[in-house]
Amino acid sequence: MAIPFFSIDLKTKDFFLIIKNIIFPFNKKKLEDKLKEKLSLRYPNKFISLLPSGRLGFYLTIKYLFKPNDLIIFSSMSFPLYIKIAKQLGMRIKLIDVSDKDLNINYENFAEIDEDCKGMIVTHLFGNPCEIEKIKNFCEKKNIILIEDCAQSFDSSFNGIETGNFGEAGIISTSLLKIPTTLSGGILVTSNQELHKNTNQWLENNLSNNFFEKFKLFLKVFIFILNSYPKIYSILSDKVFFFLKKYNPRIYRKILYSGMGMKKNLFDPKERPHLSKYQIAIGLSQIERCEEMTYVRRKNSQYLQQILSNSKNIEVINDHSKNNWNHQYFVIKIKANFQKILNNIFNQGIHTMDENVWDCSAYKFDIENQKAKFEITKNYDGTLLRIQNNSFLNKKQIERIAKTIKDCADGK
Ligand SMILES: Cc1ncc(COP(=O)(O)O)c(C=O)c1O
Repeated sequence: MAIPFFSIDLKTKDFFLIIKNIIFPFNKKKLEDKLKEKLSLRYPNKFISLLPSGRLGFYLTIKYLFKPNDLIIFSSMSFPLYIKIAKQLGMRIKLIDVSDKDLNINYENFAEIDEDCKGMIVTHLFGNPCEIEKIKNFCEKKNIILIEDCAQSFDSSFNGIETGNFGEAGIISTSLLKIPTTLSGGILVTSNQELHKNTNQWLENNLSNNFFEKFKLFLKVFIFILNSYPKIYSILSDKVFFFLKKYNPRIYRKILYSGMGMKKNLFDPKERPHLSKYQIAIGLSQIERCEEMTYVRRKNSQYLQQILSNSKNIEVINDHSKNNWNHQYFVIKIKANFQKILNNIFNQGIHTMDENVWDCSAYKFDIENQKAKFEITKNYDGTLLRIQNNSFLNKKQIERIAKTIKDCADGK
């Protein structure tokens, strides 16, 4: 039986919640307020908006805070669509190379930041917080607006403070495969009341409540939930993926990365409808279970780390014995024979994720420091593999994943 590269951790009660809130879609606002109240415990001094995606939160934030031609800093390992959006809005972009410690923006390289820089976007990549206190102090001194991409770092903290509380704005993704999920969605937290007001007004005036769009999303959600179960995945998708990977790897890759938003030329902020009530209900349930899910994911990650760090061909990215972060992604570097090992792992039914999409210097964006070398980024790009550590998987499955990957990496 194949183990899919993603799972959505839902309980039986969540299925009832989905059905109940589809049948009774009334009083959505009350549920939204309840979810915001829960979130405000994590972001006590912030205004909070619930959105149909993280990317929309990012678009509205930078459109409001910056002007065309403003210079914005990104880490060279960032979410590429965010750079595409910034370029679409006419901003100038400079990339700063990452640290080999955690693949987050490297503070040591901040001397490269120009005096006219207006903003900085930091990504807490894979869920592990970057050196956000030092970065915040730097930005305050230089009058630079700091924005945190917390798409992967909900429930991660730095010196006891949750990520998203440091910048002027923090954007969390609650997309289908994120934790917590609203089965597609995002959250914007900000200390800027005007940005908050502008965001809510924009949502009100621009998003649709179109039944067909919502139904299309629901079908996608339904298929993803079904595919979280290895038994169903093995019947529904395993053979299709196997066939595509073998005979049409280009389409296979396109399917895997369809969520990256890089296919279309321009980002359309109105691409998704308003959140439905069942999505808010699931978000609430997920946030109530967040610590429990993080606990299981950490245990899974620690086990994977213990087995995989015994392979000479593997470097585990980030330390999973630490408990200040959410372990959302478990990523390894495969030092030699990446593609061959990836294929072997896949053929043995462990469908891991080739995680080589983060090098933003490789996308041919028009950036200010086109000629820079980005040595650390280049050293890791093309070697990264994301391994399933989701709290939905049981111990036996995690053991099988660890053993298969170690054996393949060791050439057995
Ligand atoms: C690092 C990072 N930033 C931003 C996003 C965008 O979030 P969303 O898919 O909710 O728009 C993602 C989602 O994949 C991400 O991983």
